[in-house]
Parts: sequence; structure tokens; C-alpha cells
Amino acid sequence: MKILAIETSCDETAAAVVEDGRWVRSSVVASQIALHQRYGGVVPELAARGHVTAITPVIRTALSDAGLTMRDIDTVAVTTGPGLAGALLVGVNAAKGLAAAAGRPLVGVNHLEGHIAANWLVPEVIPPGTAFDATRDVPPPALPAICLLVSGGHSEIILVEAPGRYRHLGRTRDDAAGEAFDKGARLLGLGYPGGPLIQLAAAGGDPARFDLPRAWLPDSHDFSFSGLKTALLRLIEPYRLPAEPGPPDDAPFPAHRPRRLRDDLPVSDLAAGYQAAVVDVLAVKAVAAARETGARSLVLAGGVAANAALRQRLDDELAAVWPGGGAPAVHYPALWLCTDNAAMIGAAASWRLGGATREWTDDVRPRWPLAELLPLETGVGSP
Ligand code: KG4
Ligand code: ZN
Repeated sequence: MKILAIETSCDETAAAVVEDGRWVRSSVVASQIALHQRYGGVVPELAARGHVTAITPVIRTALSDAGLTMRDIDTVAVTTGPGLAGALLVGVNAAKGLAAAAGRPLVGVNHLEGHIAANWLVPEVIPPGTAFDATRDVPPPALPAICLLVSGGHSEIILVEAPGRYRHLGRTRDDAAGEAFDKGARLLGLGYPGGPLIQLAAAGGDPARFDLPRAWLPDSHDFSFSGLKTALLRLIEPYRLPAEPGPPDDAPFPAHRPRRLRDDLPVSDLAAGYQAAVVDVLAVKAVAAARETGARSLVLAGGVAANAALRQRLDDELAAVWPGGGAPAVHYPALWLCTDNAAMIGAAASWRLGGATREWTDDVRPRWPLAELLPLETGVGSP
């Protein structure tokens, strides 16, 4: 079963070919970072236009990298939500057109389920023409699993009973973890996207130099990061200089005009402290949820899952809670499968083949919480 998957929910134009839900035949991601950088964040209208330009070459490349044509594809899959409406539309329309022209079924995929499903992919790209051993033992995460889903728009703790069967335990009450990284990076004058830049700036910094708050929200698996952001703002305030002059009045979009910061801003220590505060709460809460539910594994999903400090902190927390061993196994997607990509959409599509249709009438769902996904029968479509 070969699935051509397409993803355009935010600022990456991506296409991939995934076989049997686990094997990546090709994965192409065209990043729009350069397009949005000068605005300090994603500009939805620019994102949609960027997808229009990139979508055809990205899909062509995904097929040719896999050594395949549309004739070899069994099903087309596309992210239908959640995400930016204009951005989603580009991928959905491309997918509908391709599927209709080739007479293939189309399956709409929830982007968040895609992030979870990234943990089921074998993290390598199989070169064209290479036979793969589908019986090779690459075990998927043991179930039930606690999933810490942390992306630019979501921070959730989910009990994954089986592929497609979820129980929500916690969510953010304000900013998502990725959003906290992005806003923190903007305050520190580091730019966009924030997560990788904070991680880089934090290297060698002293995380204990500044006292930054953690919102533990006792008796809850929920998160809150807005207080941390305000605390960082207060620490930075004394180092701020007046804003730089803006772009000309006829610039197409209101430009991001960062306030300049004094050269003696302790960027590295602040970034390290800020990162430590975010990952502390994420790790402690995810591990507590795993302990309470008796989960057999702890899986990470979403762009923030790429954060090295988070991975380290989770390992430390598991060792602290299970000093004698016996902690749930930790499962991380490979770094290239943490941030937005289409291979993960192909993996989730393999769980949702029952929802594929030949009507090609799928619409975008910019707001589509995981909780509104139809639960799958236990294990249906699971590898
Ligand atoms: O999953 P993703 O690629 O897109 C969404 O679905 O939102 O996540 C993007 C988020 C951004 O907020 C970005 O700053 C964050 O993931 N991110 C990271 C790292 N790499 C990406 N955050 C912390 N550390 C990283 N290394
Ligand atoms: Zn994402």
C-alpha cells in the first residue's frame, strides 16, 4: 500500500511517499523560513502564496525521489486541518486534483494525529528500487503510551490506547510550548523560528542564573506558559533600546520591527534559563501522567520534540521516578520527523484508510481538535 501524502498546514510545503504506514520511500520538505523571517513569525497570506509556488515541484520531487509515478500510488492523503485555512487549501486542492485525475481514493488527515503517527515510522528513507524487509523488527511504541504532543500551536498530554484511540489528559491553558519558544526568541532578539534558535543560544549558558517561574498547576496535567513569558520580558526590559525605523509605508505587510537590545544582554544565560523552565514542566508532567496511567511507553511528538534539552530532561525525570529501573520506554521520532513533514501524514493516513473516499470533496478544517477525531476501533489499521 503506497500512499502519497501532502502537508501544507503552516509554513512547510511537504510531500512524501509512505509504504504500509511505516516505511518512508521519499520525503520532501520545502521550508518557508526565509519568507517569514523578516516578519518575526508566519504571515498567513504569504504562507498560502508560498505553498502555491512550491506545491507542484515538491510533489513531483517526492514521486521521482521514490522512483514512482502516480500509477504506482494506491491512495492520496492530505492534511485537512488544523492549520491556516489558506495554507491548507493549497494542499487539499492539489491532493483532490491529483487523486481525481488518477482515480485514486483520497483520505483527509488530522495534522496532530500525523505528529503522533511519526512515532510509528521507521526513521530512514528507503532508496528507490530497494526491496525492504517488512518483517524486520523495528518495534512501534508499546501501548498504551503517554504522548507529549508539543508543537507551535499545541501542548497536550494524551493517552494513546491504540492508533486512533486517544484520551486527553492535559492541554495548555494559554500558549503552546512551541509558541512559548517562538515568543521567547523574539523577546531575546533571536528571530524566527524560535525553538532551534533558543536551543542554540542556550548552549553553554547557565540555566540557574535567573529565577524563572514554572507553572506547575497542581492536580492537573494542564500547562501554562504565559507567566514565564512575562517574567522573561521583565528581565529583558532594562536592556531594551528604542525601535529601529520601519519599512516604507507602502510595504505589503506590516513588518516586524524588533526593539534593539543592548550588547550586554546575557542572551545565553537567559535562553538557557527559559528553555529549562519550559522543558522542566513538560518533562515532569509527562512522566507523572505515564506513572499514573501505567503507560508502557512515553512518546514525543511535534516540533518541540526536537529539543535536545527536553529529551535529556525526560530521561533524567524517568530515572528519578523509577530509580530501580522499569520506567516506560521513551520513543522519539527522528529529528526530521518531529517538525512538520508529509511522511507523518502518510503514517496517520494508513490508520484512517477506512475514511478514504472517491468523492474528492474534502474540505479544510482549520480548527480540528484531536478530541473531535472519530475514534478507531482498537488496533484497526495499526501495524
Ligand atoms: O510541529 P511543528 O513543526 O509545527 C506545528 O505544527 O506547529 O512545530 C513548530 C514549533 C515551533 O514553535 C518551533 O519553534 C518549535 O516547534 N521547535 C523547537 C525546536 N525545533 C522546532 N522548539 C524547541 N527546540 C527545538 N529544537
Ligand atoms: Zn506540526
